[in-house]
Amino acid sequence: MNIYGPYQVTLDKILEELLDRFKNLNSSYQQEHHQSLFEHLIGRVKSNESMIEKCQRKNLPVNTHSALKVNKDSVGLRIVCNFIDDIYLCIDMIEQMPDITIVKKKDYITNAKPNGYRSYHLIIEMELPEADCEGNLPGKYYVEIQLRTIAMDTWASLEHEMKYKHNIKNPELIGKELKRVADELASCDVSMQTIRQLIREEN
Ligand code: GTP
Ligand code: MG
Repeated sequence: MNIYGPYQVTLDKILEELLDRFKNLNSSYQQEHHQSLFEHLIGRVKSNESMIEKCQRKNLPVNTHSALKVNKDSVGLRIVCNFIDDIYLCIDMIEQMPDITIVKKKDYITNAKPNGYRSYHLIIEMELPEADCEGNLPGKYYVEIQLRTIAMDTWASLEHEMKYKHNIKNPELIGKELKRVADELASCDVSMQTIRQLIREEN
C-alpha cells in the first residue's frame, strides 16, 4: 500500500520543481554577487515506509490525509549555507515567492535545542494547479525546509548518527561533549560571519 496514493507523483514533481528553483536562484545570485547564496541543497520525498511509521508513532490513522495534511514533511528540503546571514537571505527570498506561503517558522538558531541542535525550520504551503487530497483548487501542499550552516550540518549529521547507536557506554558524557562542540561551532559561525563583514568593508 502507498500511503500517498495518487499524490506520490505530485510530491515527486514538487521536489523536482523546488530543487530546480533553488539551483537557479543560486546561479543567478552567483552571477550578480560573485558568491553563492548557499553551499549545497538536498531534498527528499519521505519514503512510504517512513511516513507509515511516523503516522503509527503519532497515533494517526494511516491514510493519505495524515501523510499530506497532518504531517507536513512529506516533502523536505535542506539548504546548507556558508554563513548565518545567508540563511536569513534565503528565507527572505522564499517569503517573496508568489506561490509559497510560510505557515510556520522555528528558529533553532536563536533558540538552540537543549542538546545543541541549530537550524532554521520552515513549513511552507505551496500552491499547485492540481487539486490536493481535500479537493482544494489550487491544491495546497506542505513542504519542510531546513536551513543551516555547514557547521550546523556537520554537527547534526554526527548527532543523528549517535542517536541510532544504542550501545554507547556513556551517553551523558557524549551528550555533554556534543553540546559543547555545538556551542563552539556556533561561535565559529559568528566569527566567520564577522570576518566576511570585515573583508567586505575593505572593498
Ligand atoms: P516532526 O516529528 O518531524 O513532525 O517534528 P517536530 O515538530 O518535532 O520537528 P522539528 O522541527 O523539531 O524537527 C524536524 C526535523 O528536524 C527532524 O526530522 C530532523 O531532521 C531535524 N532535527 C530536529 N531536531 C534535531 C536534533 O536534535 N538532531 C538532529 N540531528 N536533527 C534534528
Ligand atoms: Mg520530521
